[in-house]
Amino acid sequence: MIKLCVNVDHVATVRQARLALEPDPLEAAILALKGGAAGITIHLREDRRHVNDSDLHRIRKSIKAKLNLEMAATAEIIKIALKELPDQVTLVPEKRQELTTEGGLDVAADENRLRGIIEEFKRVKIPVSLFIDPIKEQIEAAGRTGAESIEINTAAYSEATSPEEEKREAIKIKEAATLANSNGLKVYAGHGLNYKNTAMIATIPHIEELNIGHSIVARALMAGMETAVGEMLDILNGKSI
Ligand code: PXP
Repeated sequence: MIKLCVNVDHVATVRQARLALEPDPLEAAILALKGGAAGITIHLREDRRHVNDSDLHRIRKSIKAKLNLEMAATAEIIKIALKELPDQVTLVPEKRQELTTEGGLDVAADENRLRGIIEEFKRVKIPVSLFIDPIKEQIEAAGRTGAESIEINTAAYSEATSPEEEKREAIKIKEAATLANSNGLKVYAGHGLNYKNTAMIATIPHIEELNIGHSIVARALMAGMETAVGEMLDILNGKSI
């Protein structure tokens, strides 16, 4: 069965909006695992806009399930990853101005540098995944880097504005998954997947795992709102919760 890794970054986004202590991404990670997630994903961005170094450290220490660290391949973050030892590293491109990761890595243009970084992680037994668009040249280049897996960027599929475009993008993902598998790569996918568009992606052969964040955090807020209000009303009415 296809596995789900829950990205809890946006739990930390809500916390950072007030520079407060809650909500805690570690608490969300524990609940996500209780809910059946196979693993937890976080993206330690260079600007620390949501999860920070302490979150990574606490989550690493507290969860036994797979911890997938998304990160830019920069010296600073590589050093942190080698210290914290997540179960997997996913290399992503990162721009300071972007709202979220825009597009996959250009592995074809950066093959040698990436091979060196992957080698560094291999020495400490951390498998590396490369986040790439469903493009033949990128997948073939990924196969040559020594990466264990790729994560296919599903953003173009998620952002499709017509059923025809969605179908075209789904076919690209399907072909990419088959090609990656024949190049010896494990296949994961993610970005922009939600409660409407994920079922189709989950049927694609060779995709073993999905990384989903924003839609799950958004849904969790709505699923929990009634309870949260009820608990506050209990306090107003003098009841202990
Ligand atoms: N995969 C990668 C590489 C990402 O950068 C992100 C966003 O952090 C995701 C998956 C999850 O995307 P979303 O939050 O849209 O589900």
